[in-house]
Amino acid sequence: MKKIALTLIALIAFSGAAFAAAQDSYEYKGGNMGKVAFPHKKHMALGCAKCHEGAPKKIEINKGVAHDQLCLKCHKAENKGPKGCKDCHKK
Ligand code: HEC
Ligand code: HEC
Ligand code: HEC
Repeated sequence: MKKIALTLIALIAFSGAAFAAAQDSYEYKGGNMGKVAFPHKKHMALGCAKCHEGAPKKIEINKGVAHDQLCLKCHKAENKGPKGCKDCHKK
């Protein structure tokens, strides 16, 4: 019983640390196309593994990743979220 309780406490502490390290939202510069907001918290319900491989892995956002591997790719595939240039890039 004590072991189970300790394991639970360890798990809660661990997930707490992971969540504490994530911002609710991120903002990218997006060059002269204008800033792009990424509401991380709203995306969390999709499941961490959709974006982070394995245990939350650091993601480096750049144009290629954003358009072809992550953001736009998924919005197109699921037909949800912004897909037009100016729906993501705001001046
Ligand atoms: C739709 C994609 C997506 C989903 C789903 C997602 N994340 Fe993230 N996460 C990101 C991106 C993008 C960043 C920001 C990377 C950056 O620019 O620093 C990030 C950042 C983080 C960070 C900050 C530290 C780091 O590695 O940059 C943590 C911690 C994190 N996410 C945890 C989670 C957890 C836990 C879940 C599931 C509950 C989750 N994420 C779901 C895309 C996602
Ligand atoms: C795995 C799929 C997936 C990935 C990857 C993903 N998104 Fe989304 N995104 C969604 C879905 C699904 C929605 C719609 C949520 C809804 O309508 O409730 C959404 C909605 C949004 C919205 C609108 C939120 C709102 O308040 O209406 C923005 C902005 C957005 N995404 C930006 C991004 C950016 C920037 C990235 C990359 C860093 C990204 N997304 C990566 C699935 C994804
Ligand atoms: C789902 C959101 C999303 C959509 C839709 C989108 N982009 Fe982006 N784009 C991004 C993100 C995120 C970045 C990375 C920004 C960064 O690294 O500062 C980016 C980067 C770029 C960059 C590189 C900026 C730089 O100098 O680093 C250009 C140019 C660009 N996008 C143009 C476009 C055009 C044109 C369209 C429409 C055909 C478009 N984007 C649609 C999210 C989006």
